[in-house]
Amino acid sequence: MAQMSAPSASFKCFRQFNGADFGALLSSHSALKQPIADRHFPTASLQDKLVRELAGERTIAIKEVLECFEFFERVRKEIRAPCVVDLCCGHGLLGILFALFERRVERVILVDERIPLSFDKLLAASIRVGPWVEEKVEYRVGPIAAAHERLGAGASIVSVHACGVLTDRSIDCAIRLEGQVAVMPCCYRRAACEAPLAVQLAFGVEAAVDVDRTYRLEAAGYHVRWTHIPEQITPKNRILIGRKPKR
Ligand SMILES: C[S@@+](CC[C@H](N)C(=O)[O-])C[C@H]1O[C@@H](n2cnc3c(N)ncnc32)[C@H](O)[C@@H]1O
Repeated sequence: MAQMSAPSASFKCFRQFNGADFGALLSSHSALKQPIADRHFPTASLQDKLVRELAGERTIAIKEVLECFEFFERVRKEIRAPCVVDLCCGHGLLGILFALFERRVERVILVDERIPLSFDKLLAASIRVGPWVEEKVEYRVGPIAAAHERLGAGASIVSVHACGVLTDRSIDCAIRLEGQVAVMPCCYRRAACEAPLAVQLAFGVEAAVDVDRTYRLEAAGYHVRWTHIPEQITPKNRILIGRKPKR
């Protein structure tokens, strides 16, 4: 039986990348530079302005930029809430997008066990585009296991490429807080998966692990939807969105 991999999707945020072959550009790990940004993100839209500012900092790869924007575009409506928490946030760009583009989001809390050097530069770039970002964003250094302790009920959780079991911890955190959740997992072989071997063999480890996560969320009262970002950015492109209906 054929194993199930995540299908690809078209670009929703940056539609200029649909239909043409950009080779390895869209998954490039090299720092985004100004000529590329000026060429591919030339408009006066807030999103293009931000990409050009980010390029000026020469600190984040185009892959990371596209990944965050395309993830954000697919989950923002379900996730927006007064408080959004980006777990295992790394550079923090995903959380910053919520602070910049979502009026309903009053606070963004970024959580990671360390702050990368790139964060200050990305934050500065985003504040130049939208000065309101500054008062919304807070970076908390600490382990994901303790993240829920200082978060209020109802906070939304997002997490992109929180490796293996860290995605499961992100889901646990959302369930504790009864908040909305969206994750894009990676490193499946290190997940806290209890999917039966037969399901893993038939559909592949990745699908089996995400099915297990889906059952866990549904058992906790969530409605779960799967979607994807374009595979040209990353093959680890499946998004699980869990919506907790209001009581
Ligand atoms: C693959 S990176 C993903 C970063 C970011 N979300 C992104 O998409 O670029 C995983 C992140 O998890 C963080 N991390 C690893 N173990 C952690 C833990 N126990 N608690 C909090 N953060 C952790 C790392 O420092 C790293 O920034």
